[in-house]
Amino acid sequence: MQLNEQTLELLRKHEQEHLVQFWDELNDEQQRHLQHQIDDIDFTLQWKLIEQRNAKEGTGTDLDRAKHAKSPEQLVRLPQNEAERAERKNAKLAGLELIKAGKVGAILVAGGQGSRLGFDYPKGMYPIGPVSQRTLFQILSEQLLARSQQAGVEIPYFVMTSEATHLSTTIFFRDNGYFGLGEHNVFFFQQASLPAIDDSSSAILLSEKGSISTSPDGHGGTLRALQKHGMLDVMNERGIEHLFYHQVDNPTAIVCDPVLLGLHEKYESDLTTKVVAKATPEEKMGVLVTIDGKTEIIEYSDLSSEDAYRKDTEGNDVFWAGNTAIHVFRRAFIETLLFEEFSLPFHVAHKKIVHIDSEGTLVEPKSPNGNKFEQFIFDALPHTNVALVVEGDRDREFNPVKNSDGNDSPATSRAAMLRIASEWIQSAGGNVEEGVKVEISPLYALDAADLRLKKLDEQSFTEDTILNG
Ligand code: UTP
Repeated sequence: MQLNEQTLELLRKHEQEHLVQFWDELNDEQQRHLQHQIDDIDFTLQWKLIEQRNAKEGTGTDLDRAKHAKSPEQLVRLPQNEAERAERKNAKLAGLELIKAGKVGAILVAGGQGSRLGFDYPKGMYPIGPVSQRTLFQILSEQLLARSQQAGVEIPYFVMTSEATHLSTTIFFRDNGYFGLGEHNVFFFQQASLPAIDDSSSAILLSEKGSISTSPDGHGGTLRALQKHGMLDVMNERGIEHLFYHQVDNPTAIVCDPVLLGLHEKYESDLTTKVVAKATPEEKMGVLVTIDGKTEIIEYSDLSSEDAYRKDTEGNDVFWAGNTAIHVFRRAFIETLLFEEFSLPFHVAHKKIVHIDSEGTLVEPKSPNGNKFEQFIFDALPHTNVALVVEGDRDREFNPVKNSDGNDSPATSRAAMLRIASEWIQSAGGNVEEGVKVEISPLYALDAADLRLKKLDEQSFTEDTILNG
């Protein structure tokens, strides 16, 4: 296949001619792939990002924001007294009513590359079940199914994929019968990808002679991708007003948490965020704060060690409210943002990017050599009228799988699932013997109260067990 003159002209204009330097060595399929990737590049955006990187906007730290920050003001903390416990109880009932009325959908973001975990498939396919080896996708989908069954209404699942995860994810769901949710309730939508660039020039990098190095445009790409793939129309047709948003890597997130939904509705919030208390002031977690009356997130990289320990006038930590990336969005809020041709800011990451050099040799850099660009969903926060922050129970709700070992790894997440199951069994009057593993399928029980209905009185688990629904 001959490279067309128009493409060559475009690449020359944007100083990216090197992308086709190996064209003649490629077979037809590789040429078509490369042509398709080049057609997909938004060069106007690409130059904007390069200029932003050159000006170092968004790359350096923004320590000044922390100086003006206070702890979140529109906040519901974990209940400490009867009145607060009653508020949660009422919120749970209200949240269940919202679900029963068919007004709730769920968004799962599963487009990330999962590079820290180092797993060869999409992270959602990771076998996390401590006894069953069930995958993250299965455990999260079964939570949604159990919630649907509890409410007697089908809850649609909007699953965001990326170029890197789309095919395997859609095949995996299909081969597993959509985990019982029904094909008509699972909507896949693919986020955009952006080319990676060399950090000392404006050159886009090749991952192979016939392929541009790209990466997904960050979880903030969710908003544009929902619009591009007609998901907002689906939501509208199905009468969905609120979206429970969660990440693929936390199997203990309470999917479509009725308490969170109920509080979100009560406070008329546009975007509600679940936070947990940071383990230490210097823990690497984004924190929810209020700056000039607006709820925002400060990333850990933008918080100096000195600031991280700052206390308010009552002696409480200012930066305690760690972001779990569990949110509820009002659909109308998403639509307003998109209607205004709004774009979330791009953040520049400096990464090691394996690439092909001008000699055609594969380079595996030892230190960061290139830039990737990402949008973050929480940058929507300052655009809300009301952004509620709700504290959750960290041990129960936040056990993500980020790293291959150490903290936030499969080992810590599995241990948490076992601990939670054991606590529920104890509260239902049963007992798990030391060293025995019991895994509770969401289809068996969604929470401790659900399990108490199973009458486990005095049942003792002496061998590894999966309680299936
Ligand atoms: P992380 O920021 O932890 O990234 O994503 P990651 O890709 O999973 O892992 P690393 O950083 O490469 O090790 C948090 C959540 O956001 C989703 C991920 O799939 C995960 O559920 N995500 C992230 C996307 O859907 N798209 C993106 O572009 C980035």
